[in-house]
Amino acid sequence: MQKDEIKIGFVTVSDRASRGEYEDLGGPAMQEWMGKALKSDWTAVARVVADEQPLIEQTLIELADAGCSLIVTTGGTGPAKRDVTPEATANVCDKILDGFAEQMRSVSLQYVPTAILSRQIAGTRGSSLIINLPGKPSAIGECLEAVFPAVPYCIDLIEGAYLETNDTFIKAFRPKHAIKK
Ligand code: MTE
Repeated sequence: MQKDEIKIGFVTVSDRASRGEYEDLGGPAMQEWMGKALKSDWTAVARVVADEQPLIEQTLIELADAGCSLIVTTGGTGPAKRDVTPEATANVCDKILDGFAEQMRSVSLQYVPTAILSRQIAGTRGSSLIINLPGKPSAIGECLEAVFPAVPYCIDLIEGAYLETNDTFIKAFRPKHAIKK
């Protein structure tokens, strides 16, 4: 990996998508959103995995080790018996960023009352920021929009890649001293 290369991980967590019983819509939806949001060049590292906690943990570790500054997951955040994405995320993170989950659920409640069913979390593993998103494709943009302004600076602080956003789509906030000329 080149030092300045920006890698973003996309993990779809779904039993049925992983078995090919239905098309993975969440992975492409996350990549499409990121394509609109980021001005910087980036490379996608995408995975589709079943709702198995060890498998999700192993995938998150692999993507963090591969140098992904940001890893977004979709699916498996609800209360159903097989939903274990937040547990897997918590197990591989060094630090949990509660504000991300608070903000995502709060904004999501403006769209659907069932937003409180998502147990989504976010946290850091080394120089990677991991954010859980619900499985519904429409929830992906709703949640990313709610937290993304803080994502580039968060990644600066954990010494990941320097992300620049397309300000007409989403404007990142960085303190003045952190802005690279
Ligand atoms: N958040 C947003 N922004 N939009 C949504 O439509 N759906 C909710 C919730 N969060 C939703 C949302 C529903 S119906 C569920 S069950 C939970 O996310 C968990 O979804 P998951 O198990 O697919 O991750």
